[in-house]
Amino acid sequence: MIPCTLLLLALLPASLQAQSALGGCLLFSGEERGYLEPCGCAKPLLGGIAKRHTFLKSLSEPWLSVSLGDLVGGDTLAAGHVRRQDELKAETLIQALKIMDHSIHNLGEMDLDMGLEVLAYLFPPGPVTLLSSNIRLSGSHPGTPYTLEIVPYKVCEVGARPVQDSGGGGATPDKGARPAPTLRIGFLGILSPTLLGPSSVAEKGRMPPGVEIIPPAEALPPLIRELKDKADVLVLLSHAPLEESLELASDFPEFHLVASGHGVEHPIVIKKDNTWVFTPGIKGKHLVLYRYNPDKGSGVVETVTLDERLEDSAPMLSLLDNYQERLKEEKLLSRVERFPLPGQTSYVGSRACSPCHPAVSQHWGSTLHAAAYETLLKAGRASDPECVTCHVVGLNYASGFQSQDISPDLTGVGCETCHGPGSLHIANARRDRAKDLSLQGGYGKVSPELCKGCHDPEHSPTFQFGPYWEKIRHPVETPVYPGDSR
Ligand code: HEC
Ligand code: HEC
Ligand code: HEC
Ligand code: HEC
Repeated sequence: MIPCTLLLLALLPASLQAQSALGGCLLFSGEERGYLEPCGCAKPLLGGIAKRHTFLKSLSEPWLSVSLGDLVGGDTLAAGHVRRQDELKAETLIQALKIMDHSIHNLGEMDLDMGLEVLAYLFPPGPVTLLSSNIRLSGSHPGTPYTLEIVPYKVCEVGARPVQDSGGGGATPDKGARPAPTLRIGFLGILSPTLLGPSSVAEKGRMPPGVEIIPPAEALPPLIRELKDKADVLVLLSHAPLEESLELASDFPEFHLVASGHGVEHPIVIKKDNTWVFTPGIKGKHLVLYRYNPDKGSGVVETVTLDERLEDSAPMLSLLDNYQERLKEEKLLSRVERFPLPGQTSYVGSRACSPCHPAVSQHWGSTLHAAAYETLLKAGRASDPECVTCHVVGLNYASGFQSQDISPDLTGVGCETCHGPGSLHIANARRDRAKDLSLQGGYGKVSPELCKGCHDPEHSPTFQFGPYWEKIRHPVETPVYPGDSR
């Protein structure tokens, strides 16, 4: 295994750029998984369409880019999730892929999960082709206003495409230089049956009716034969676990590149005999580049991390603004699923705690937890349920946060985020009930596990309970019973 090169844009040797201007460059972004932008919760800020676009525009050689599948899904199916948001996200991503001149999206199992009708709407015949060599659609889908087309292969040319204004893709080399020879790339794509079949994790409802899946070993050989004379470089887009992609690389040595796009977090590049097998990792935080040098008749694979040094591109920022605007217009916050709370208890808001816990309340007011919703307002993300869920109290519960107007005392990571809904505790916090209070088993015991619900590796990679709690530890105070003199 070759350790992946983290190639920094600024460090790109000029010699490599000049050399590869004669050939072409293929770019692979991983499973998209609805990752439009880094959330900004923790550094480093990686990936996002606005950085990807800037990177693509910076390439001096002709290029072609493909997306490895799964427009939306995965861990976005967490709390705060609204299915409609996935559709808006998918639409935004498709617009982005078009502007960024992506030629192909290889069908993933999460794409199929959206349903054929949504897919057909998202992928009208046009610039971004939906590819799968082993998924066939059978029968017609009466009543469906859109026709879904999934192509079994696609041959693209890189090196002599016309200059396009917005995407910056496929720019021809400098005028005056000898015209770049055109490189024909043949793309095949598979979706692993293991991700859909009866042994897949989610068995129910994964396979939309009218979809047939063919084992790759059966689907690929005739297509490889067909492409033999039509393409100079053969690429398999493999929406499969990495081990399966490696097996396919051994079984089909005809492929020069096997781009594996399923479930691997970080980029991996492996050279296996004459085939490069690689994955760019998930969520488009990294890209894999294949630079082909026609003089040598071969190419090299590199990975690029889309990090903070890349500026955000203006067209993508405006797409992101539109997306947030639509979340707001469609009031997605009010459409989140709300679970009932156990017993008679409900959320009352942090302000209600302060009469009896004045010192703790005042101290809490000085921590960033209290300001977590303002943070979203400042970032322009306060209407996005996927952000709000960790920055307020109880978004996904009855009597939890609804909006700043309706529930101003439930903004931020409030007392009840950690201690649980407080109405019963307050009702019982009377001297004559002191015994009952302890009978409740002690209201509001907090386990360190609770912190990790929000301080997870993605949003708070440096989290450790000890040092973090030290930063926000409450002052010691004797709670006041109503009627007690202080
Ligand atoms: C509901 C989600 C959530 C839970 C649960 C949560 N946090 Fe946080 N925490 C946040 C958010 C959001 C921020 C960032 C607030 C901001 O900067 O706007 C944060 C910030 C912090 C900070 C930085 C605050 C500062 O003032 O410097 C510390 C420390 C912290 N959390 C510790 C904890 C600990 C310890 C726990 C568990 C006892 C915990 N958090 C539970 C969401 C949560
Ligand atoms: C799973 C819970 C979770 C989700 C979802 C979440 N955040 Fe956060 N956010 C946190 C935590 C925890 C912190 C504090 C991290 C730390 O200090 O280690 C934080 C901190 C932040 C900060 C402050 C960073 C700083 O430097 O002070 C911003 C800005 C932010 N989040 C924005 C967002 C946006 C925008 C979204 C939606 C795209 C979002 N968050 C979604 C948990 C979350
Ligand atoms: C980020 C999570 C978090 C938030 C927010 C939070 N607390 Fe706590 N609180 C804790 C933890 C952790 C403890 C101590 C550990 C335990 O429960 O044994 C604690 C302890 C307490 C105690 C017991 C006092 C003691 O010394 O044992 C009281 C009372 C309390 N919190 C009240 C509040 C009030 C009131 C607020 C809001 C103004 C609040 N807490 C906000 C996490 C939190
Ligand atoms: C009417 C007064 C009152 C209000 C309002 C109140 N508390 Fe308390 N709280 C108390 C008293 C009194 C105790 C001490 C009970 C005891 O020691 O048995 C206490 C204890 C606690 C404890 C520690 C429990 C334990 O077993 O150690 C936590 C946590 C707590 N309160 C959180 C909150 C939160 C969060 C709120 C707001 C939702 C709140 N309290 C509102 C009076 C109040």
